[in-house]
Amino acid sequence: MLSRNEWDPLRHVIVGRADGARIPRLDISLRTINYSHVQDPADIPRGPYPAEVIQQANQDLEGLVTFLEAQGIQVSRPNPVPHDYYLYCPRDNIVIFDDLVLESPMALRARRYESLAFHSTIQQLEGDFRWIRLEARRQDSLYDAACVGDADRLALTEQEAVFDAANILRANDDVFYLVSNSGNRRGAELLQELLGSRRRVWPIEGIYSYMHIDSTIALLREGVMLLNPSRIKDVSQLPPPLRNWDVIWAPDPGAVPHYPGWCNSSAWVAMNVLSIDPRTVLVEQSQTELARRLEAQGFDCVLLPMRQARTLGGSFHCVTADLRRQA
Ligand code: NVA
Repeated sequence: MLSRNEWDPLRHVIVGRADGARIPRLDISLRTINYSHVQDPADIPRGPYPAEVIQQANQDLEGLVTFLEAQGIQVSRPNPVPHDYYLYCPRDNIVIFDDLVLESPMALRARRYESLAFHSTIQQLEGDFRWIRLEARRQDSLYDAACVGDADRLALTEQEAVFDAANILRANDDVFYLVSNSGNRRGAELLQELLGSRRRVWPIEGIYSYMHIDSTIALLREGVMLLNPSRIKDVSQLPPPLRNWDVIWAPDPGAVPHYPGWCNSSAWVAMNVLSIDPRTVLVEQSQTELARRLEAQGFDCVLLPMRQARTLGGSFHCVTADLRRQA
């Protein structure tokens, strides 16, 4: 078995790279998924991220790798395949359920080939596993242009199944799936079909419309979760299996900085933490109040830098993808 939840002791993980990160050419997928809140397309940045962003992000990723390896955790890195977006967030690309390795049918056109960067790593995994690469056509009719300027409308239609792997959180036989701009309802149905009757996929709707679930909910260990109080007011908004979990409410992250003119996420990227075992959580070094709150609940926090997390749209959970966790 490779891995089946977000908290078992981590044994092998992919850590992304910032090299070549860029905002791709503006097409209907990028316009609706990432920038429906921006009125004037001229305000949308494009092209390569500034060199300083790449350099600082890579420095912090190297620091993360050094830390993980010192814990005895095997680390793999993406191969430098051609891409139009980035290889910074492997969490968005692949997800594992026991022995099933899934390459997600990503919602953005520019990201369709990213997971090829992990093929040589997947090929070298030991033991038996199934490997499915999901594709999508991403025709114009998959994207609802009317969502631009309308915060109540999601970017994706139900024309075909698409989702980013980071719309998903795994809790053994329960799988939580955020319906949002980066994953539609058909995506949840496809996932349920692939996982079979043993697992249940629980769609979560109406709590966060933009990209990915992991600045809204973090599953820290069996029965304990970190929640974003600006998006979730009450556990009754969550699927039944989560309603009796203990809740740690994330503190206000404060003014999380980003490179001027380049911002790929909200300040809540600060709660994009990574559990490396049921007790130990990696927290961005500026988030001392979050660390204090977790420690008050019995967690050990490791504070490390991820200074471009907000600029690039990912902190420790996003910049990694679990391969193996010890069950
Ligand atoms: N899109 C999310 C970040 C995901 C890690 C946010 O802006 O809060």
